[in-house]
Amino acid sequence: MIPANLISKKRDGHHLNKDEINSFFNGYLSQVVTDAQMSAMLMAIYFNGMNDDETFSLVNVMLNSGTILKFPQSNSYICDKHSTGGVGDKVSLILAPIVAAAGIKIPMIAGRGLGFTGGTVDKLESIPGFDVSPDLDIFKQWVEKSGYAIMSQSNEICPADKKIYDLRSKTGTVSSIPLICGSIMSKKIAEGISGLALDIKIGNGTFMKTKEEAIKLGSWMEKIGKAFNIKTDLTYTNMDQPLGRFAGLSCEIKEAIECLKGNGPDDLMTVTLELGSKLLLQSGAATSRSDAINLQTEIINTGRGLKSFENSVETQGGRLDKFDSENKPKHEAFIYPEKPGIITNMNTESIGWSLVELGCVMKNNNDILDHTAGMEFLRKTGDQVKHNEPICRIFCSNEKKLDTVSRSLSSAIIIGEDHPRNNPIIY
Ligand code: URA
Repeated sequence: MIPANLISKKRDGHHLNKDEINSFFNGYLSQVVTDAQMSAMLMAIYFNGMNDDETFSLVNVMLNSGTILKFPQSNSYICDKHSTGGVGDKVSLILAPIVAAAGIKIPMIAGRGLGFTGGTVDKLESIPGFDVSPDLDIFKQWVEKSGYAIMSQSNEICPADKKIYDLRSKTGTVSSIPLICGSIMSKKIAEGISGLALDIKIGNGTFMKTKEEAIKLGSWMEKIGKAFNIKTDLTYTNMDQPLGRFAGLSCEIKEAIECLKGNGPDDLMTVTLELGSKLLLQSGAATSRSDAINLQTEIINTGRGLKSFENSVETQGGRLDKFDSENKPKHEAFIYPEKPGIITNMNTESIGWSLVELGCVMKNNNDILDHTAGMEFLRKTGDQVKHNEPICRIFCSNEKKLDTVSRSLSSAIIIGEDHPRNNPIIY
């Protein structure tokens, strides 16, 4: 295999066959293909896309780069949920403990920050001691013990996604349907699950900005799920503004805990309960959508969801008793509207990049995340704003970064005079 030859072939709009995809992607893992060559290939795929055969070959090579989990001993329904990425998207952190409390098992492989979107694994690492890189035998024991566990891709499971995910994030090659399919579906199939609820986000704060693109991505993932015998349900949800009240790292864990205490904001809870319902229906734990919503509400109201979260954090070594004291931001600033009026639009991607700047996503290999960093959205789209009332609070532990972001953020929140036509939260 000559890497440059395959890159040129893809660059010029030709299709790669299965052997070529296997040798290039496996070559990346064995370091025959360099980061520079993989970056060029990712960009060629980004611009030229992949046909059916290429996309399936990509999923297969990424899946088979590591172990595929099996749970032969388990009598429980084994499933998972995954989102295509957004800002303030902490649904997994709330859904997993609730669904696990209903007797379902979730072996979740999640990612770090990707492009301008935050990562579940980075958020969880703000809990002192929380281990996201266990051996797979330990991971399976955790799932059995707590009902769910969350880990990152590793050298054992989905190593190809681990390496390529990082590179995509740093090379502007995230928003590609075949690359997203390869990344998400290889992780989900490797979990050994029978069912999957996919949250396909649409809007200015995710990788698929239009309904048409999102539907194309959703259909692709559904087709791959079916081919691997996974019952795959799609939910299309709105990402035209950050989800919930907070976006960042530890602040999203805090908000997830509030949701499990019954104090969650409407948009976030609507998405969480809708996706949770899909899994409860698949498993037979609920027989109708309203039954599934009631069951989840009862799990929250009786404190079983919070208990499930606390058990899982403890199992993974996390110290919630040290969480608050280790996540106090040193600095904060308030953003005021440029004029009184109504928030007509939030440029959510730009808000996401501001979060990257604050230290919530790695920009380069040696970056250290600031777990204290984040934003609180005091007003959102459609809200009336006054000159002297802040619309957003920004916090982190690096004063210079806070200053830079504070100066640029207000241009991402557009104030007008007329009420905007808000899209629904679930499409
Ligand atoms: N989430 C993933 O795991 N991968 C992607 O490519 C996008 C979202």
